[in-house]
Amino acid sequence: MEKIVIKGGVPLKGSVQISGAKNSALPLLFATLLADGVSEITNVPGLRDITTAVKLLSELGAQVDRQDDCCRIDAANIQGIEAPYDLVKTMRASVLVLGPLLARCGRARVSLPGGCAIGARPIDLHLKGLEALGAKITLDHGYVEATADRLLGSKISFDLPTVGGTENLLMAAALAKGETVLENAAREPEIVQLAEALNSMGAQIEGAGTAIIHIQGVDNLQPLKCRVIPDRIEAGTFMVAAAITGGDVLIQNAPRKDLEALIAKLIEAGVEIRDQEDGLRVIAPLKLQAVDIRTSVFPGFPTDMQAQFMALMTKAEGTSRISETVFENRFMHVCELQRMGADIQIDGHSAIIRGTDQLTGAPVMATDLRASASLILAGLAAENTTEISRIYHLDRGYEQIEKKLAALGARIWRDEE
Ligand code: EPZ
Repeated sequence: MEKIVIKGGVPLKGSVQISGAKNSALPLLFATLLADGVSEITNVPGLRDITTAVKLLSELGAQVDRQDDCCRIDAANIQGIEAPYDLVKTMRASVLVLGPLLARCGRARVSLPGGCAIGARPIDLHLKGLEALGAKITLDHGYVEATADRLLGSKISFDLPTVGGTENLLMAAALAKGETVLENAAREPEIVQLAEALNSMGAQIEGAGTAIIHIQGVDNLQPLKCRVIPDRIEAGTFMVAAAITGGDVLIQNAPRKDLEALIAKLIEAGVEIRDQEDGLRVIAPLKLQAVDIRTSVFPGFPTDMQAQFMALMTKAEGTSRISETVFENRFMHVCELQRMGADIQIDGHSAIIRGTDQLTGAPVMATDLRASASLILAGLAAENTTEISRIYHLDRGYEQIEKKLAALGARIWRDEE
């Protein structure tokens, strides 16, 4: 197993290029199952989760050719209809094959994802939505069995704005007969890109990015050709890296419009953010100020930036309160940060962070994707050496992060455990 080693204390300087968005690339890859032909997606990030998605597409019978950041997917002959447990437990986004397979083949057999480190993360809202479109859903030995001769458009109101649920239903409704209305839909930028991609395939979707989405079903869709949007969470992670190390970093191709909630909090903490032609320049203050955050669905403060922002607040002057409202167990990074000298107390779904002058390097363990990022950020700011184990979590969602950080001056490398 590999680990990441960091000798902290270096202010980051320079510029960094943000990769394509993991959480956009994944639904786009599965959307290609809807078309009988060869789709092409570029700016696909080199991540473990993408490898898992490509493996699943191949197991379903698609021919996938992945060259650098370009994926070509020939979904003409889809034989399989099953997403097996070993793949779904590795990557819960595999459940996003449900909608496309039902719409294209009339059948799908997808393993229930099971829980994960950050919460139970059920898919009940996905299934309720598909049933509303006329699918017959049964549960059999941990698998969802879904069948539908032809999905029929319907009105679906989500109990909560689920990202994956909205994506599954967008893809299913695109080929349903008649109109579907999604109410209380998720509004994330990745939803907007998926809807635009589906429309470029011939779908008729209006309202993506708002809480109410109208989908007029069509009989078939053409193959997809698109470029993945930049990853707002990777961009946010590098913005925090500049802030926590006292640095000055240009985040090239940062999707500013998708980062407003984070930017507002960074500015409140004293960070200077300059909108430049070539990207967002992030200049750290001499002393960070403590600010409170409360995660919520887009356009609120993203839950996927909570762990990274908590690392930042461990260095701020004053006391901050971070409330996690989206997932029920997304504080796994707290005890690892405490090992590095952070003063954090958990109070239910909130964490109280008392800023400290100095974090100290220590051996710590990654528990989930964004927790891994927060430990890297703390290590960059800590004195002495930090060693982070179980970094397979990190490789799921960050493309060569240690190389990008080293190019900004960080003393960071990958080593064998
Ligand atoms: C997506 O997960 C992202 N993953 C997550 O990013 C992100 O944290 C999350 O959206 C919230 O923004 C991908 O896009 C691949 P949800 P998803 O359905 O779709 C509950 C990362 O770090 N819920 O919006 O699974 C659920 O338990 C990952 O890149 C139900 O109760 O998120 C959770 O508490 C982590 N029933 C909340 O809703 C359902 O049927 C949000 O889930 C569906 C969800």
